[in-house]
Amino acid sequence: MARSLLITNIGHLLMAEGIPGDRAAGRQLSQLPLQENAWLLAEGGLVKATGEMSACPSRATEVVDANGGMVLPTWCDSHTHLVFAQSREHEFVDRIKGLSYEEIARRGGGILNSAGKLQAASEASLFKAAWERLEEVIGYGTGAVEIKSGYGLSVEAELKMLRVIRALAEQSPIPIKATFLGAHALPLPYRDNREAYVRLVIDEMLPLIAGEGLADYIDVFCEKGFYSVDETVRIIEAGAKYGLKAKVHTNQFNSLGCIEACVDRGAVSVDHLEVVTDAEVEYLKTGNTIPTLLPSAPFFIGGHYQPARRMIDAGLPVALASDYNPGSTPSGKMQFVLSLACLKCGMLPGEAIQAATINGASAMELGQELGSLVPGKRASFILTPSVPGPEYLPYAFGSDLVQRVYIDGQLKVD
Ligand code: NIG
Ligand code: FE
Repeated sequence: MARSLLITNIGHLLMAEGIPGDRAAGRQLSQLPLQENAWLLAEGGLVKATGEMSACPSRATEVVDANGGMVLPTWCDSHTHLVFAQSREHEFVDRIKGLSYEEIARRGGGILNSAGKLQAASEASLFKAAWERLEEVIGYGTGAVEIKSGYGLSVEAELKMLRVIRALAEQSPIPIKATFLGAHALPLPYRDNREAYVRLVIDEMLPLIAGEGLADYIDVFCEKGFYSVDETVRIIEAGAKYGLKAKVHTNQFNSLGCIEACVDRGAVSVDHLEVVTDAEVEYLKTGNTIPTLLPSAPFFIGGHYQPARRMIDAGLPVALASDYNPGSTPSGKMQFVLSLACLKCGMLPGEAIQAATINGASAMELGQELGSLVPGKRASFILTPSVPGPEYLPYAFGSDLVQRVYIDGQLKVD
């Protein structure tokens, strides 16, 4: 008989049931489907059934009493850069003293600083540090993660980074999606010949990366001082020829017209979106591209918070992700992302939980297997202590409410 796990006496079971699979939900639910005083049965790593304690199954290989705690799907963090060589706390201090994120980048800090460090680092040391970060975020309740390259910025270093991501994916207990972000910043030697670098990304990096099957998606940082909309379009169209769908950094500081270009080309997601016009919100409704909001970035480097309320009121579903990286977001803690989304972006707690679970899963095309606790999906879930209700999670922003993490029906963090 397959191994089974029965969780009993669940105070609040957040199933997120009823939300369609691989496309983000057609609308954001302000109140998630919730069962009180519930049980959950997992078998063979999948959710088998859920129900009320009045009709609880009597047998399972392992029975765990939740003691009134809450059970919800693990976070699906669809945007991170968690492979990097070194932290950048000196830039944090420079910003406190008055330099802006953009100024630091212009002086060769920022992404270029991280690229220099990564180029000099060994694959083994990058793997070790990233593995520790991965374990850290699993401890925070993350059950699937996307990881980008983009701190290599040379053929060898981008390949090295993506091989580290592949090694992580091979050994990780949680699914990992890899994104090629060769066009993250313009390396200094190409400052007077940006076309040569764009060609390097398209003609040299892409074929090698696709040939080794190292990426699931392609990304570009479309922003003033980084890559233009035209360059972004060329790069994502080149990626499409190799079967790589797009997930694009855009509208972080400026609205340049990239959202429309991405929607028209069937991008899986457009990410950041601190600065978004009403026309862009309307345009997003014409396609399937998932707006993915990263509120930890403006929290850490300043700027506008994402207009989640405006998007949701316009009828758009949104995803939330951490953006874990050494420059704009040195944190992969999704519970804090939820608090920011509620306090700074106007999201209701249920909306934020949906955005960080099923919609995040959809933004990695994992919505059929993760993101909600319905029969047949992977039994990856968080167990909290007894809390008054789901809204307590973003409310108690300083408390670590992730008590246990189960991945595919197995206890991973206690
Ligand atoms: O998503 N904005 C572009 N890239 C990253 C930050 C990169 C860095 O500062 O190292 C982001 O915020
Ligand atoms: Fe990012």
